[in-house]
Amino acid sequence: MIIAVDGPAASGKGTLARRLAAHYGLAYLDTGSLYRAVALAVLRAGGDPADEAAAVAAAHALDMADTEDPALRGSDVGRAASVVAAMPAVREAILDRQRRFAHTPPGAVLDGRDIATVVCPDAEVKLFVTASDEVRAMRRCKELEAAGEAVGYDAVLRDLVERDARDRNRTHAPLRQADDAYLLDTSNLDIEAAFRAAVGIVDSYR
Ligand code: C5P
Repeated sequence: MIIAVDGPAASGKGTLARRLAAHYGLAYLDTGSLYRAVALAVLRAGGDPADEAAAVAAAHALDMADTEDPALRGSDVGRAASVVAAMPAVREAILDRQRRFAHTPPGAVLDGRDIATVVCPDAEVKLFVTASDEVRAMRRCKELEAAGEAVGYDAVLRDLVERDARDRNRTHAPLRQADDAYLLDTSNLDIEAAFRAAVGIVDSYR
């Protein structure tokens, strides 16, 4: 079984996808961490994330172990990730890796922006997880604070809105809800309630 979980930044899709994977005994892949790892490699080499040649080279050299680096969670890395993610050659370089992961038995839960639309259009269950801009900004503030990076709410909100616009408006694999995806709005749900709702949806497909 493959479960695709897409949605904008800080919508709660990562926590949800991780819990679904544990619940159903599936592997879990945070595909955002791949784009973040590419961006971090470029930044660490002193490069510019907008430099396509540097980003594509980093994407080809990507090692799965690079996706475990705690530095990936920084807001500067998230911003740079959405810049490299707009480059078709970067996406192409890591596409097969994601598909192989998804199709390895017993299956997987993948979260990202284009899982249901591009990476795994054949996924049995497709969830599109959203929350209001304000709720997402609050959640991201708390996450950054826990990671030791105190950023003001207004700056976080601006950053999220800008990043989502870049993800939605790019020409290649933009963030969008697949026609056959189930919309789950978590604005008024805590993680437990969102998880129960998601399990209800997944079980209805099995
Ligand atoms: O989910 P996360 O915030 O870690 O993703 C970082 C960035 O990576 C996103 O803003 C988006 O530009 C990009 N991304 C993507 N496609 C995916 C996952 C992430 O373009 N499947």
